[in-house]
Amino acid sequence: MVKIGDIELPDFPLLLAPMEDVSDPPFRTLCKENGADVVYTEFISSEGLIRDAAKSTMKLDIYESERPVGIQIFGANLDSMLQCVEIVERTKPDIIDINFGCPVKKVVSKGAGAGILKDIDLMVSLTKAMVEHTSLPITVKTRLGWDDDSIRIVEVAERLQDVGIKALSIHGRTRAQMYKGNANWKPIAEVKNNPRMHIPIFGNGDVTTPELAMKMRDEYGLDGCMIGRASIGYPWFFNEIKHFFKHGTHMAPPTMADRVEVARRHLQMAIDWKGETLGVFETRRHYTNYFKGIPNFKEYRMKMVTSDDSAGVFAAFDEVLAKFGDHNFA
Ligand SMILES: Cc1cc2nc3c(=O)[nH]c(=O)nc-3n(C[C@H](O)[C@H](O)[C@H](O)COP(=O)(O)O)c2cc1C
Repeated sequence: MVKIGDIELPDFPLLLAPMEDVSDPPFRTLCKENGADVVYTEFISSEGLIRDAAKSTMKLDIYESERPVGIQIFGANLDSMLQCVEIVERTKPDIIDINFGCPVKKVVSKGAGAGILKDIDLMVSLTKAMVEHTSLPITVKTRLGWDDDSIRIVEVAERLQDVGIKALSIHGRTRAQMYKGNANWKPIAEVKNNPRMHIPIFGNGDVTTPELAMKMRDEYGLDGCMIGRASIGYPWFFNEIKHFFKHGTHMAPPTMADRVEVARRHLQMAIDWKGETLGVFETRRHYTNYFKGIPNFKEYRMKMVTSDDSAGVFAAFDEVLAKFGDHNFA
């Protein structure tokens, strides 16, 4: 069994990665229903949140059914981060996660996200203060280092553990890499193999097949796996991994009826959560993946992504089911 603080998880838990504009309550719910053991919100700006920016505040919404859920925050200013912890606590998540890995310029330039990898002392002191400021478990998500010449993740992990974090997720890339090249899991395994480490170490980056998840578990010895892009428009991925671990065979892929059903629920939940206009607009990004691999699909995808109201999208789903209902995804 793996534990994040007092939260008990199965062996080798699967975590849904925080993803901006993707990991919202509807998507997290679908991932949870399909085997994710822990889900994280997209990152939330501490500066935005303490100024009550409506967009940041909405990101705090959680559904009971998705627990355990972690709310991820980012920032580099101690006062803002501590105020943010208090605001986040009031929404009663199970975990607060600190983002020390976001590589984008507008975040890094303020010393937040992966920017803090240039100042490990600040990273540790900020984390310590946050741990001391809440009774919720604090977890951290970070990258290997700023660039290839400054990978100190073994030391960083020890120091974060020493100030009280309850789990660490490591994306096997440096900030300099952004999303290029392959994720390198070796330094993550070095963290795990450090005999001083006792908190769970979760690997992240490029897990796109059940075989790779198994490799992360058996060859790299990690405690669990955090999954991002492979789940977008494909929440079934979590159960596919679990099936593979249990039976050594691949689960049958979702049928067209399954895909249409989940796409429908996704859209409906998004509308219920953020209203018709935003719900229709923000669910568009998922459709390509829900219906990946269907030949001559463009006409239908266009209907889904250009329709301004949900009636048009639901009608497109009906058409897809009628036309491609017997498509074999195997
Ligand atoms: C669209 C998108 C949005 C992301 N947003 C966040 C975020 O808000 N917080 C974060 O820690 N990482 C974010 N990430 C990084 C992912 O959590 C993950 O570390 C990365 O995608 C590597 O994992 P993967 O190969 O399984 O996708 C984002 C990634 C993508 C593709």
